[in-house]
Amino acid sequence: MITRLDHIAIAVPDLTAAIERFATDLGLHLAGREDVPSQSTTTVFLPVDGTQIELIHPMEGRGPVAAYLEKRGGGLHHLCFETDDIDADMDRLKRKGYRFLSDEPQPGAHGTRVVFIHPKSCGGVLIELAEHPAP
Ligand code: CO
Repeated sequence: MITRLDHIAIAVPDLTAAIERFATDLGLHLAGREDVPSQSTTTVFLPVDGTQIELIHPMEGRGPVAAYLEKRGGGLHHLCFETDDIDADMDRLKRKGYRFLSDEPQPGAHGTRVVFIHPKSCGGVLIELAEHPAP
C-alpha cells in the first residue's frame, strides 16, 4: 500500500550549481549525498516537511539519468511514493496492466528496494515505488 510521497527527483546537469540553487538560494537543508551504483546515479537529499527533493546526477557520466539529460536537459524526473509492501503493490499493478522498468525491485538509496513504473502506464509521468528497510 502506498503510504506517502517519498521524494520528488530533479535531474540536474550541474550538481554543484543545483546544490547552490536549492540549498543556498532557496534555503533548503542539505541532508546528504549518496552514490547509487544500481542506478548509476549520484543523489543529493534535501528534506522538506516529511518528504524530500532529490537532485539526481549521472554517476561517472553514464546510466539512465545521463540519457535523460542528453535528450531533455535538466528537469523534473520522477515522483517516488513510499510503499509498505513493494512486492504486493507490484503484483497488484501488474494485474491491472501496468508495466515496470525492471522485473524485480532494485536496491535504492537509504537501503530501500525500488522499482519504476513505465511512464507510458502513468500518462507520461515516471513513478518510483520505494520500500524502506524495517527500522
Ligand atoms: Co527516486
